[in-house]
Amino acid sequence: METNTNTKAGSLGRRSLLGGAAALGMAGSVLGAPAASAGQAGSRTRDGRFQGKSVLITGGTSGIGRATAQAFAAAGARVGFCGRRAELGRQVEREIRDAGGEATYVQADVRVADQVRSFVDRVASRYGGIDVAFNNAGIGNGKLPHELSVEEWDDVQATNARGVFLAVRYEVPYMLEAGHGVIICTSSSAAEQARPTSTAYTASKRAVQGIVKAAALAYGTRGIRVNALLPGTTDTPFVRPPGIPDDAWTAYKKAFGPLNIDGLERMAEPAEIARAVLGLASDDFPYMTGSSVAVDGGSTAGRRMIQPSRP
Ligand SMILES: NC(=O)c1ccc[n+]([C@@H]2O[C@H](COP(=O)([O-])OP(=O)(O)OC[C@H]3O[C@@H](n4cnc5c(N)ncnc54)[C@H](OP(=O)(O)O)[C@@H]3O)[C@@H](O)[C@H]2O)c1
Repeated sequence: METNTNTKAGSLGRRSLLGGAAALGMAGSVLGAPAASAGQAGSRTRDGRFQGKSVLITGGTSGIGRATAQAFAAAGARVGFCGRRAELGRQVEREIRDAGGEATYVQADVRVADQVRSFVDRVASRYGGIDVAFNNAGIGNGKLPHELSVEEWDDVQATNARGVFLAVRYEVPYMLEAGHGVIICTSSSAAEQARPTSTAYTASKRAVQGIVKAAALAYGTRGIRVNALLPGTTDTPFVRPPGIPDDAWTAYKKAFGPLNIDGLERMAEPAEIARAVLGLASDDFPYMTGSSVAVDGGSTAGRRMIQPSRP
């Protein structure tokens, strides 16, 4: 259990149900949200915006990456995605194909250069290059600085920062050859808003922003746009501890949102983040590169002022 450091009225309690990643500070809220419709939107075919496009996603076996793979496939793209868990990967691949889309799962660990290179090569060769890359794989760590082991620090940086660098490293040559491409890298609202337990995570997600800015400058005149997406707390296994029954999780989210996200007072659904990725990858933002785009329900906008009782 982690201490909730938010300052809102404490009638609902200050102890978070969440350990680990959720305590990094990606809190949100849920109730009052059109969760079901938002969730369905990601897999609904809305248009053919990405018809025939080749889309690569790291971390597509779960959560945001999975919802984004489904959304791109529903919009006509051919999607190559990776993750370490082969069973889940094959399941997501099957779900997309059963829904009439095209997807290929490749088992790859983004910490390992050869695996990232081989994943990128396989997607490019199967689908004829890479039009869009969503470098999304990531892990959390919710420990105070003096509790964090060196190995844990290294693992977060290797996954979240080095993994994004490696993906960009191997994707860009294909995009340079084609003369176009869009890269979106998953940072986090935690890049802008640290928590006491977000040392490794916040550092890694700021590194993602750094990679994005440098790459945007490096390739802007060569047809490649590169942007960072900063999701706020999103209802995925990243924040939901295993084994919590649905009704208990729903009740938790109902309490958690108003305490932690002063804008929309709810967590995002993965499909809502996926829709933002598709928007950024579309032709609707030709002049946007090097940007950090927060999709966080207002959590980085600031906090409401809570006045103590006046004397
Ligand atoms: N959920 C949130 O509140 C939130 C908020 C802000 C930012 N984010 C960011 O959003 C991204 C996706 O998170 P999520 O919420 O969708 O969490 P999730 O459901 O836990 O998904 C994480 C994905 O990353 C993959 N991954 C992790 N380590 C990997 C590795 N070494 N090699 C390859 N794939 C790896 C996982 O696949 P395998 O386990 O199969 O390898 C999984 O597909 C992360 O970068 C996270 O930091 C999440």
